[in-house]
Amino acid sequence: MERTFVMVKPDGVQRNLVGNIIACFEKKGLKIIGLKMMRIPRELAESHYGEHRDKPFFGPLVNYITSGPVVAMVLEGKDAVGTVREMMGATNPLKAAPGTIRATYGMDIGRNVVHGSDSPTSAEREINLFFRPEELVNYQRDVDRWIYE
Ligand code: RTP
Ligand code: MG
Repeated sequence: MERTFVMVKPDGVQRNLVGNIIACFEKKGLKIIGLKMMRIPRELAESHYGEHRDKPFFGPLVNYITSGPVVAMVLEGKDAVGTVREMMGATNPLKAAPGTIRATYGMDIGRNVVHGSDSPTSAEREINLFFRPEELVNYQRDVDRWIYE
C-alpha cells in the first residue's frame, strides 16, 4: 500500500469544506492514518513548496498557505498518490475535470482548496515534513476486505 500527503488548504478550512473533502477520500476507500489541524510556519511552507522557490507565484503561494489553519493528513491505499491527484483534478480549478474536488469547489489557481503529493518521492518528503512517525497510526481496518479483493 502507498502513502500520500494531503492537505485542505486555508481556503478550504475557511469555506467549511473540511468535512466534504475528507469525506471524498474516505468514501473512495483511502485510509486515514494521520490527521491534524495546524497553522503552517513560514519556514515549513517555504520548504514544502521549495521546488517553486524561483517561480513568480512563490511569494503569493507561501502567503496563501500560511494565511490560516490547514488540515493535514496522510492517506494510505492502492496507488494513493495517483488516486488522490486524479480526485483533486488539475491545478487550475477552471481546467479541472468535472467531478474532481478542485472543479467542484474552486474558481482560481491561487485558491484551489486542496493539496496532494505529486509522486511517491514527494509524498515521503512531505509526510516527514508535516508528521512525526509517532503521529501516524497503525491499525487494522475491518472494512478493507470489502474495499480490496
Ligand atoms: P499543490 O502542490 O498545491 O497540490 O498543487 P499542484 O501540484 O497541482 O501544482 P503546483 O505546480 O505544485 O503548484 C503549487 C501551487 O502553486 C499555485 N500556483 N499558482 N499562478 C500560477 O501560475 C500558479 N501555479 C501554481 C497553486 O496554488 C498550486 O496549487
Ligand atoms: Mg504540487
